[in-house]
Amino acid sequence: MRLLALLTALAGTATCAAGSRLSGSRDVAAGVERRQDAEATYKAHTLDVPIDHFPHSPRYPSHVKGTFKQRYFFDSSYYKSGGPVFLYIGGETSGESRFSNLKTGIIQILMQEFNGLGVILENRFYGESYPFNTSTTDELAYLTYEQSVADNQYFATHATFPGIEGNLTAPGTPWIMYGGSLAGALTAFTMKTYNDLFAGGIGSSATTKAVLGYPQWYDPIMKYGPSDCISRIIDIVDKIDDIIDSKNQKAIQAVKDIFGLGSLTSLGDFAMTIAFPIGGPMNYPTNTWQELNWHPAYSAGEDFYHFCSNITNPSPPSSISSIDTALSKYTNGAPWTGLGGYVHYIKTILLPLCTTGRLNSTDPGCFSTQNQTFYADPSNGGARSYLYSTCSEAGIYQVAPPHGPSLISRALQIPYTQQWCTWAFPPGKHNRIPSTPALGYVNKYGGWDVRAPRLALIDGDVDVWVDLCHHSNLKSGIRISSEEYPSYLIAGAGHHWDSAGILNVSAEPDYIREAHLWEIRTVRGWIEGWKGGEGY
Ligand SMILES: *[C@@H]1O[C@H](CO)[C@@H](O)[C@H](O)[C@H]1NC(C)=O
Ligand SMILES: *[C@@H]1O[C@H](CO)[C@@H](O)[C@H](O)[C@H]1NC(C)=O
Ligand SMILES: *[C@@H]1O[C@H](CO)[C@@H](O)[C@H](O)[C@H]1NC(C)=O
Ligand SMILES: *[C@@H]1O[C@H](CO)[C@@H](O)[C@H](O)[C@H]1NC(C)=O
Ligand SMILES: *[C@@H]1O[C@H](CO)[C@@H](O)[C@H](O)[C@H]1NC(C)=O
Ligand SMILES: *[C@@H]1O[C@H](CO)[C@@H](O)[C@H](O)[C@H]1NC(C)=O
Repeated sequence: MRLLALLTALAGTATCAAGSRLSGSRDVAAGVERRQDAEATYKAHTLDVPIDHFPHSPRYPSHVKGTFKQRYFFDSSYYKSGGPVFLYIGGETSGESRFSNLKTGIIQILMQEFNGLGVILENRFYGESYPFNTSTTDELAYLTYEQSVADNQYFATHATFPGIEGNLTAPGTPWIMYGGSLAGALTAFTMKTYNDLFAGGIGSSATTKAVLGYPQWYDPIMKYGPSDCISRIIDIVDKIDDIIDSKNQKAIQAVKDIFGLGSLTSLGDFAMTIAFPIGGPMNYPTNTWQELNWHPAYSAGEDFYHFCSNITNPSPPSSISSIDTALSKYTNGAPWTGLGGYVHYIKTILLPLCTTGRLNSTDPGCFSTQNQTFYADPSNGGARSYLYSTCSEAGIYQVAPPHGPSLISRALQIPYTQQWCTWAFPPGKHNRIPSTPALGYVNKYGGWDVRAPRLALIDGDVDVWVDLCHHSNLKSGIRISSEEYPSYLIAGAGHHWDSAGILNVSAEPDYIREAHLWEIRTVRGWIEGWKGGEGY
């Protein structure tokens, strides 16, 4: 997720005008959100859902009674009586920002194939599905993976679809879930917990493993990014970190000054800002490797390649090339090859986003995060909800690797992100966040090894999140699919790239087409075998 999203949302100025800033989180929605909002056409319905599904659990000592209105949106244009229900798990964004999945994406593909009904369920504490008017630490206690998983179960057994004849609840009607990213993990955990209820579930790029620090986010970029660009960034970062390690304050100031960021007192903020074009910790205003997509309408990846072509520009003007040697006195005369292009990009693309000019502030678009008051604002907002999940149970702080080459400065470590948690969620009466995320609440479902009959796990091998998924490189051995536990790794694909479609599977690029055909075959098996939950 991206902090600038958080900044914007907390400031109460949440708007898509800021482009990708709102697209926080593990998810890819940047381009998708911007484009789809304009064509929002599905009507919002609501279901009254218990705020607390676990009235006897000590995890929720305040045991709030009552319900909240959880929003859902459905498409019945392909539906024929007796058809299945395809439930798109909303995850960490608004229901509206998922509409493309009903119109042209995976749910559309499945609805068309099986005469099904497609429905998006908005996650609690996102969009307009807030149980409370604010999001204090006590109120956010009810935002947990297990409560969201229970929402899916509750929805499948209580949903009504105005205008559609008959009772479509599960398990009488076959229900098949689909979720990408965090929603993919929720899909997997729902299949694991309420297996008898669902005919099947597809977790796409399902981040089922929780870890505290996640330096691997940068691995696919290092591995597959333009190699001369990558090696130059690594070399520049090494030089910056050597200067930081030297504690030579004059030299450190010179490094910050050359990027125009001399006023950032926090080294973490400086390191985060120059990491923005690659992807700063939870936070970046332009599009990165993660926002690439096979589907041109959703790909927002040009930013990353432009950044790189600035760094690899073979014939920059002397005003830019001279910067390569401006800091050479700190490196025994060695040039900082590519620094001029890097600095030029930061100064022309990033700095102007801070329209108030107060670079060292939390004003929208600016570059400081050192502001407790700012974080402590309890107003509802998706970025705040996502930060709470991160701080309380999911972790996955983007940090520099402990050894070896790095695309981001080693100034970016766990405490930098943890500080935001501490500021944002002071202890409440009934709830307090742990000193670091309580990962066990997520990993109890199985982490990389989560398994459930009829749970399909599909990943992309160039995805920045893949190492938290079933096909993680951190797990040894090749994963072999089976009918009971289907899995698929799309070579060359990023973060849940199977979500998107073009209304004609045959015309898709072959690697996406084959993944979609596999999903169709898998789902066909589930639907044909479904016996209303009894003796599957
Ligand atoms: C929440 O806000 C709504 C609309 O402003 C108001 O009607 C309601 O009373 C508020 N609820 C609480 C618990 O403050
Ligand atoms: C639908 O069927 C289920 C299971 O038979 C039942 O519990 C539920 O009340 C029914 N819902 C409606 C709206 O009739
Ligand atoms: C930058 O902001 C921080 C936090 O508000 C403050 O402590 C620091 O003095 C500021 N630095 C400069 C150079 O103004
Ligand atoms: C540098 O980045 C800008 C902004 O994306 C882009 O327009 C420009 O073409 C890039 N310059 C080079 C030399 O690639
Ligand atoms: C800190 O945050 C508050 C509340 O959002 C804001 O009014 C103030 O301007 C911020 N200060 C700085 C230095 O960013
Ligand atoms: C779908 O794409 C295939 C392959 O390009 C093409 O032959 C077919 O006509 C297309 N179908 C429709 C309905 O456009």
